[in-house]
Amino acid sequence: MIDVHGRRISYVRMSVTDRCNLRCTYCMPADMRFLPRPELLTADEIVLLAEAFVARGVTRIRLTGGEPLVRKDIGQIVEQIGALRARGLEEVTLTTNGVLLDRHAAMLAAGGVERVNVSLDTLDPEQFRAITRGGDIGQVLAGIEAARSAGLAVKVNMVAQRGVNEDQLPAMIDYCDARGIDLSLIEAMPLGPEAASASDSYIALADFIRPLTDAGDALAPALHRTGGPARYYALPGKSIRLGLISPLSRNFCEGCNRVRVTATGRVYMCLGREDHVDLRGAVRSGNSEAIDDAIDAGLRIKPLAHDFLTAQRERTAAVSRTMSETGG
Ligand code: GTP
Ligand code: 5AD
Ligand code: SF4
Repeated sequence: MIDVHGRRISYVRMSVTDRCNLRCTYCMPADMRFLPRPELLTADEIVLLAEAFVARGVTRIRLTGGEPLVRKDIGQIVEQIGALRARGLEEVTLTTNGVLLDRHAAMLAAGGVERVNVSLDTLDPEQFRAITRGGDIGQVLAGIEAARSAGLAVKVNMVAQRGVNEDQLPAMIDYCDARGIDLSLIEAMPLGPEAASASDSYIALADFIRPLTDAGDALAPALHRTGGPARYYALPGKSIRLGLISPLSRNFCEGCNRVRVTATGRVYMCLGREDHVDLRGAVRSGNSEAIDDAIDAGLRIKPLAHDFLTAQRERTAAVSRTMSETGG
């Protein structure tokens, strides 16, 4: 699949639910309303859509949410998408908040998932409770240990927030280093009703990591690539890599290789734009030509780039939907 700007699309992020068992302040409002269940694609429909993308040359699928592990039939989805390896799929991954990971780690490993990304912004239980509006960090830490025991490679995602978790970087690096976990830092993006608060806590990653570079030593780039937006760096004296995901301070849209499917079957062509095609009708009709036509229509309208900077400057949302609706 090649988009209108000549970019090869080989990676699909599939959100399996808009629901979540946390309410992170930068992601969704405290009183978030979720979609009625009949709106969501069934497991079979999700797998059918994944099949269509794999037939079109997609080699990597990441399952997202909301929180993907709150979906009751997530095991079936993982297993059936995993089976698409026989048709050219190379990697199935999952991004999770980790709360239910201890219960599902073995299932994920058995289903052929090799790596999971776990969102964890702090190691301080009270700070964690505040950021997630009530979450219990113990569950996430237990989930990470269960994932490691099951043989899954774990990466931790930390959203950098000015005045919130700036003090946590050294402790997070030590925690990850002790466990061989790469750590990715992420700039807060202005999406949905919480865009203004995301903008208030925005900090460019170059500033967030200043304590590491203050001595004047620039971090050495690592050659590692996952195909995602992170640029990786070696950390002096540590065995892990530090990934920097800087959509605002250092745009990476030129190399975009991805589209994202919502739990209702909409394909958004960009995280920060409204452009989308709705595949649910085609999927529910089971008509593979209609699915292909809709995918082609999407590739023709894929925007060149987001404009998070303007939204952030104006303290408005780049798009009205939340990260949890699009799947990150
Ligand atoms: P790997 O590189 O495969 O480990 O995954 P990833 O970092 O792409 O995925 P993950 O779900 O862990 O996402 C980390 C952060 O990157 C989240 O905040 C995503 O919203 C963000 N992200 C992923 N892809 C894009 C993208 O295309 N554009 C922007 N702006 N952000 C993205
Ligand atoms: N900006 C940046 N990252 C976000 N995430 C959720 N909302 C935002 C936002 N507004 C992160 C989560 C998770 C990943 C999928 O996206 O912390 O790690
Ligand atoms: Fe849930 Fe992830 Fe959004 Fe937090 S960032 S509320 S864990 S979907």
